[in-house]
Amino acid sequence: MKVKLLDYLNQAFKTIEKTGVFLVSIDKKGKPNVMTIGWLLLGLHYYKKPVAVVALLPDRYTFKLLNEVEEFVLAIPTPEFEDALVFCGEKSGRDTDKIREIGVTTMASVYVKPPSFKECIVNIECRIYNKILPPQNILKPEWKDCTVYFAEILGVFKY
Ligand SMILES: Cc1cc2nc3c(=O)[nH]c(=O)nc-3n(C[C@H](O)[C@H](O)[C@H](O)COP(=O)(O)O)c2cc1C
Repeated sequence: MKVKLLDYLNQAFKTIEKTGVFLVSIDKKGKPNVMTIGWLLLGLHYYKKPVAVVALLPDRYTFKLLNEVEEFVLAIPTPEFEDALVFCGEKSGRDTDKIREIGVTTMASVYVKPPSFKECIVNIECRIYNKILPPQNILKPEWKDCTVYFAEILGVFKY
């Protein structure tokens, strides 16, 4: 079911603050991966689609995947996923099939190639339209090499 981002912003922000959220990506052959993110901006436009901004360090496997397919899903988890978020924030998709390990049900997304997670509160489907290397220290000194991605939110879905 398509839902309004505005109705879930509060829940999304609370989850980011508490545990982080899932970022689901996919490689060019169609194999998906998930990582935990804790740095996320969500913004609204009065006449355009809303925007999601995420920051990734270049050693993340997801960083490579976002270069291959410039789309991702932000899956906002329920509290039961607390351990899974720690797991997905420590293990890399280079050598672990994290989606299988956390036992989540994948659903085909509507607008983007990476899948959505059925058990999550909502799935925010995003397409990257710009990426920047911010000036040093804009986030934190240890994040000076991060890339910041700006993505259009194409749709928000609840399953
Ligand atoms: C709560 C939490 C928040 C995180 N937030 C970010 C983030 O915003 N950006 C980032 O690059 N890594 C972040 N990480 C680290 C990645 O999730 C971690 O390096 C992960 O193993 C990357 O997976 P991948 O190699 O499969 O892409 C976070 C980890 C945790 C536990």
